[in-house]
Amino acid sequence: MNMKRFLSGLALTATLSAMPVSLPPFTSMENFASLAPFAIAAENTQNAEQLYTANCQLCHSMRPPAKTAPPIVGLAARYRTVYGNKEDAVKAMVSFMKAPDASNTALGPRAIKRFGLMPAMSMSDGELEKVSGWLWDQYDPNFETRGNCR
Ligand code: HEC
Repeated sequence: MNMKRFLSGLALTATLSAMPVSLPPFTSMENFASLAPFAIAAENTQNAEQLYTANCQLCHSMRPPAKTAPPIVGLAARYRTVYGNKEDAVKAMVSFMKAPDASNTALGPRAIKRFGLMPAMSMSDGELEKVSGWLWDQYDPNFETRGNCR
């Protein structure tokens, strides 16, 4: 089982158990204190896909047709071609998202001309890295990039 799913499952269980309706099994503060680590886990396990849904999906669809930005599978293919490995691609995406700039685009000027420049994301470095790693993983070998990711 996916560890993150497992942890968020535990966290959910913990949250539900901590609700007043199910108080009987948790009558002392000691029991509540023992749940604290799971509450922290819940915050850290907002998974990459949830980050995408909350912060990127407004503009980026997963696949063509494009909304107001190149679709994710197209970006994944493009970053593979340009950087060749996940580590460098993630670094490039993170730095681009903090301060989008026509001079550090992996897509090229035509995409920026077509869609306009992406706005900077106000997310933590950890979140940006997580969502970038996820984006890299969305690569689909059957997807043919054409033009500016379609
Ligand atoms: C308000 C709309 C908008 C949102 C929200 C948005 N993007 Fe973008 N993004 C764009 C546009 C427009 C482009 C294409 C032009 C460009 O590259 O700047 C783009 C391009 C990109 C690129 C390619 C950059 C390049 O030029 O090499 C990546 C990677 C990317 N987005 C990832 C994300 C991720 C991940 C999120 C969410 C955390 C996100 N975007 C949120 C509009 C958006």
